Amino acid sequence: MTYEFILFEKIGNVGLIILNRPESLNALCERLIQDLNAVLDACEADTSIHCMVLMGSEKAFAAGADIKEMQAKTYQDAYLGDFITKGWEKVSQCRKPIIAAVSGYALGGGNEIAMMCDMIIASDTAQFGQPEVTIGTIPGAGGTQRLARSIGKSKAMDMCLTGRRMDALEAERAGLVSRVVPAHQLRDEAIAIAQKIASYSIPVVMMIKEAVNRAFETPLSEGLKFERRLFHSTFALDDQKEGMAAFLEKRPPVFRGR
Ligand code: CAA
Repeated sequence: MTYEFILFEKIGNVGLIILNRPESLNALCERLIQDLNAVLDACEADTSIHCMVLMGSEKAFAAGADIKEMQAKTYQDAYLGDFITKGWEKVSQCRKPIIAAVSGYALGGGNEIAMMCDMIIASDTAQFGQPEVTIGTIPGAGGTQRLARSIGKSKAMDMCLTGRRMDALEAERAGLVSRVVPAHQLRDEAIAIAQKIASYSIPVVMMIKEAVNRAFETPLSEGLKFERRLFHSTFALDDQKEGMAAFLEKRPPVFRGR
């Protein structure tokens, strides 16, 4: 499949998805979002892909929703067209893990797409922000919600109300980012992490993703119950027998994804 604004490469069991609209710093126009949906659907359907990496260019992961497309929209256009809801939530609905590898700007919808991924690896040049307040609107793809859950109320308010940017080290301290790496190593590091995840049992990996995400949707007692049931279900997998046997036999496991 070919995409207008996405480059795609399969590296072993990893799907590498690159946002590619350099003249607009990967501003998230409708066509780019359609391409992103299509490539994610293809990755989800491809049983040989176990994990995805989503990245942009060195200068920009994405500088937000496309302001040129948005500027003239009326309330009716936005409401009746269900703007943002349609298409944008796909990243958060994928069942396989997605790593955001962020270099340069991750602003507005760019930061929001990164936060929909399962973890964010940042280059030391990364800058995160929700600058919507500076252009007369508010974050519309989960910025106020996911940022508050990720970095707490005070910092989320600071980012959303002032529109300031956060560098990679502040983002790591705040818990928005899991690791910071030198810019020239970002791609390789993100792929290495994805390959590590992809080397494990795919149903187990997907269960872990589902269980961690449940922590954001339920009270602790329900989340613990959900986790326990999934934990029990792993004992029905050949991969659990193999993983534990391999440990006891002091050899590497061979997971078959069943
Ligand atoms: N939408 C459309 N075009 C954008 C864009 C965006 N979000 N961000 C950058 N571009 C375009 C610029 O218009 C410019 O195009 P032209 O050459 O045709 O003028 C090109 O990309 C390069 O940008 P700059 O010349 O501005 O580059 P810079 O290095 O001087 O500045 C920047 C970089 C600080 C990221 C600046 O471009 C900027 O502030 N961009 C807007 C960021 C923003 O406000 N994002 C939030 C959008 S709203 C949103 O995302 C809502 C939501 O929650 C979903």
